[in-house]
Amino acid sequence: MPIFSDASRHTVLVLELFPETAAIDQGELVLGGVRATALAEEFGTPLVVYCERTLLAQAREYQRVDPEALVVYGTKAFANVALLQLFAREGLGADVSTLGELRFALRADVPSDRIVFHGNNKSDEELRAAARAGATVVLDAPDEVERASNAGVERVLVRLTPGVEAETHESIQTAHSESKFGLDPDQALATVAAARGRLDAAGVHVHIGSQLARIDESLAAVDRLVEFCTRCRDQLGWSPRIVDLGGGLGVRHARADQLPTVAEFAGALVTRFREGWNEPARLILEPGRSLIGRAGVTLYRVGATKRSGSIDYVAIDGGMSDNPRPQLYGARYEALIANKAEERVDGTYRIAGKHCESGDVLIDAVELPRPRGGDLLAVPATGAYTLSMASNYNGVPRPAAVIVADGNARLIRRRETVDDLLRYETS
Ligand SMILES: Cc1ncc(COP(=O)(O)O)c(C=O)c1O
Repeated sequence: MPIFSDASRHTVLVLELFPETAAIDQGELVLGGVRATALAEEFGTPLVVYCERTLLAQAREYQRVDPEALVVYGTKAFANVALLQLFAREGLGADVSTLGELRFALRADVPSDRIVFHGNNKSDEELRAAARAGATVVLDAPDEVERASNAGVERVLVRLTPGVEAETHESIQTAHSESKFGLDPDQALATVAAARGRLDAAGVHVHIGSQLARIDESLAAVDRLVEFCTRCRDQLGWSPRIVDLGGGLGVRHARADQLPTVAEFAGALVTRFREGWNEPARLILEPGRSLIGRAGVTLYRVGATKRSGSIDYVAIDGGMSDNPRPQLYGARYEALIANKAEERVDGTYRIAGKHCESGDVLIDAVELPRPRGGDLLAVPATGAYTLSMASNYNGVPRPAAVIVADGNARLIRRRETVDDLLRYETS
């Protein structure tokens, strides 16, 4: 039996997961003042729809945490020139970790002093490109001091691994003691010492993981960072003038998820750092997911529906090639049927993708009014690490993305075509 018999109550609760402008008008989902059905009609499906108002609200909430801090968008959440431009106009920068992401940031005219270049295995080409761009490079291995210096890099931070195991999926923990990222305190200290002789050793960086729901672990990382800064001051006579506190705050994908707000999470980190370290240092915050995750909704067209044993399957025209998070991290999502958002829930359905794997299930169990072929399924909180992790499995072209605001939609990523894929073939 479905939990909900009251259609509007169900819709209101699920709607909380959608962007700020999401509304129901005459039983239809509207995003940024545009009907989801009209978006699907004009741009096709699957389609990732970003709500501009939500993007801006998140960016501004981060900036309010510490108006002096530099907020850099974690480009890996979705490398997109239009989003980078939108954030750059708001004064944000970009955290990039490959040559490709750097090129996106440069195309978006993100100012060089707002670009932070990461990566646990930067190539010489990447270091040279970061140097040419005037980016701040985050050193992640002892040999990078020499390599960065040879590449012409000027300003660097040193990435500290504080030895904190964040409660999140193990694939997105980044600061535990055996992490591939960063340097333990002894190695980080030696790297700061070495960097001072050859580079502008400007500061330190920590980032403990992604989709974080707890604050205490991040506070523990800040405490270790403060201990590290104290060691640097006492042993090297060096204090950081830039301190990058990383990103990591999660987003709600399901009604049961409970997460701190940006102000609660980032505010607590900044306060803890300022309480522990009273020398002047400019802060950097590096959010990705929490800037764009809730702003994004994916629209899919429902195709085949059938019953298999006790399961009611609903197949959509996308799946693991446009959103591999269920397979990678066990991510759980909720959904609405955009064209009948206020119909009574009548059962629990399994949303299956179109790919040739039984594991291609986008949502294991979701309560919906009976979906029928041609309906439009809207999956909220899919703005981050979905399209950016998309693949062409089964020769499926990657979806388009649009941004919606004030009743208008603008294409920010065109839909790939099979011809695009065939262009890489040599026969
Ligand atoms: C160094 C660094 N900074 C920032 C981020 C952004 O993290 P999130 O999207 O969880 O905010 C990441 C992503 O894992 C990262 O590796």
